[in-house]
Formats: sequence, C-alpha cells, structure tokens
Amino acid sequence: MSNIAPTSSTDTAAVLLDGVRAVRRGAAALAGLEPDAYARGHAAFECLSDQRRLIAEHLAGRLTGMGDGPISVLSVGCGDGSLDARLAAGLVQGVPGRPVRYVGVDPWVGSAERFAATMSALGADELSSDAYVAPFDDSSVEETFDVVMFVHSMYYVPDLGATLRVALGLLRPGGQLWVAIAPTAALNALVVALAPPLEGHRQWFSADVEKAFVDAGIFLDDVIALDAQIDLASASDEVLDFAVQARLTPDLRGPVRAYLDAVSVPGTDGRPRVPHPVDVFVATRR
Ligand SMILES: C[S@@+](CC[C@H](N)C(=O)[O-])C[C@H]1O[C@@H](n2cnc3c(N)ncnc32)[C@H](O)[C@@H]1O
Repeated sequence: MSNIAPTSSTDTAAVLLDGVRAVRRGAAALAGLEPDAYARGHAAFECLSDQRRLIAEHLAGRLTGMGDGPISVLSVGCGDGSLDARLAAGLVQGVPGRPVRYVGVDPWVGSAERFAATMSALGADELSSDAYVAPFDDSSVEETFDVVMFVHSMYYVPDLGATLRVALGLLRPGGQLWVAIAPTAALNALVVALAPPLEGHRQWFSADVEKAFVDAGIFLDDVIALDAQIDLASASDEVLDFAVQARLTPDLRGPVRAYLDAVSVPGTDGRPRVPHPVDVFVATRR
C-alpha cells in the first residue's frame, strides 16, 4: 500500500484499491462463482441498481423505432429473462396482434429454464419463444433475427471479433446488433483486480468491444453511455461477490467495502451510490 497521505477522495480510492491488490499479491486466483450463485447474486445486484430500468427504457425505444411489422429478437446471455420479458411484453402490447419471435441463449440451464418460464408466463399467443442452453459460440441457432443483443454477456465470450462476426451473420439485412457492456470504471476496477481469469482470457469491457468492432471493420452506428448508480452500501456478501465476479475471502470484504465507500457519490436520496455506467454499441447488418 502507498505510504503517501491521500489528498482527495480519488486519491483515497486509489490507495484503497492498492490495498485490495496488496492483499492479493502473490496469492492464488480467487474462486469464481458457480452458476447458481452467479444468477442469485446477479438478481439481487440488479435490485440495488437503476441500471436495468435505464437499459430497458433505452432498448424499448430502439425496438419501437423498428416499425410495426413482425419482429424477431435473439438475446445472447439472456439470464433469467427478466429484462427480455419486459422488452417482449412491450413489443406484444405496443402493436396488438404483431408476431413476435424472441429467442434466448445462455450456457447455464437454470437461467435458460427461467427465461423460458418467464416468457411463457407472459401468456401472449403472438409471442413465440425458444431457449438454447449453450455458450454463444457453441449454440446451434440457425434462424436470422431483426435484433441480436448481448446485454452484459460480452464479458465472457472467448473471442470478441469472432463473436461480433457470428452475431452479425445471424441478422437479416438491415437488422441491428446491440451490445450493452460496462466500461472499466470504479466498480469494474475491482473485477480487474479480483476476478479469476476465464478460459484463456480476462473479462472484456467496453474499450475491448469498441476495439473489436474497429478491428473487425464493423461500422458502429451509435455508442450510448447510460449513467446508472448502485447502492452497494447495503449489499449482502453474495451481491458483493457478484459485483467483483469472484468469491471474496473474509480478509478482502473490509478493504473492498472501504473502496466502494470511497468511490461512492450521493444518490438523489443522499445515500451513497457507486457509479454504475453501461455503454450500448449499435451496428447494422448492411
Ligand atoms: C450478467 S448476466 C446478464 C443476463 C441478462 N442479459 C440481463 O441483462 O439480465 C450474464 C449472462 O451471460 C451468460 N453467459 C456467460 N457466458 C456466456 C457465453 N459464452 N455465451 C452466452 N452467454 C453467456 C451468463 O450465464 C449470464 O446469464
């Protein structure tokens, strides 16, 4: 840890982050999250943030702009379908009688089953839905879609360029690829410091995705930053593990909470909130 006295909250956060790194120095990688703990932690994490609402409103606006005809959506890394069900319900209710095809892909069977159940609970005759249990690069999706979206799932794919190309190939001409992914801001500095490596790579963030679009020669129509906040002061240990994408050891919980406190800003109710931004990348299949 630095022995220079911090002079601002940014300096304090930097010193506290160094402290977190110092606890880890020379140690074996932390354990990752099992899929069920990941899904539980994620659901509870979203309850403390306004980000999902902002993403849902933003993507619903984009869907509205795609006309009144039949529409098809592929959600890659759909999780439990909480976000997708909201978007699918908007599509069905927005234009009564319009055929809506909504497909989810997720490597964890528990999430794919919840996605299927959530979609079916909408009880909409005009909605046809399927769920594939597989990582995106192994999925056997053969249809084409008006929209292919990755909401907070691009972190995990092994090869960003290959993933973007396959995703574009699943679009009809004029269809759109949407990638919502976080930048390496204050919160994800903890992921960089603490999350164990995935199979052969670290987690990707916005800058990696933007570079992959450029390297693949895929023109970006739009990049939108949504400014969200999350209340991690009241986070359970399970939510904290999800936030850092690792199973924290007891000696790390105090330093991690102190860092999160240092990077917090006052929310509209005056309580501390951690900035929780997300970027949305948009490309069109020409
Ligand atoms: C943070 S969750 C996002 C879930 C959902 N899109 C949402 O916004 O609520 C990330 C999801 O990506 C899935 N995932 C992980 N690796 C993946 C891969 N290689 N291909 C597709 N999905 C993956 C996880 O199982 C998890 O459900």
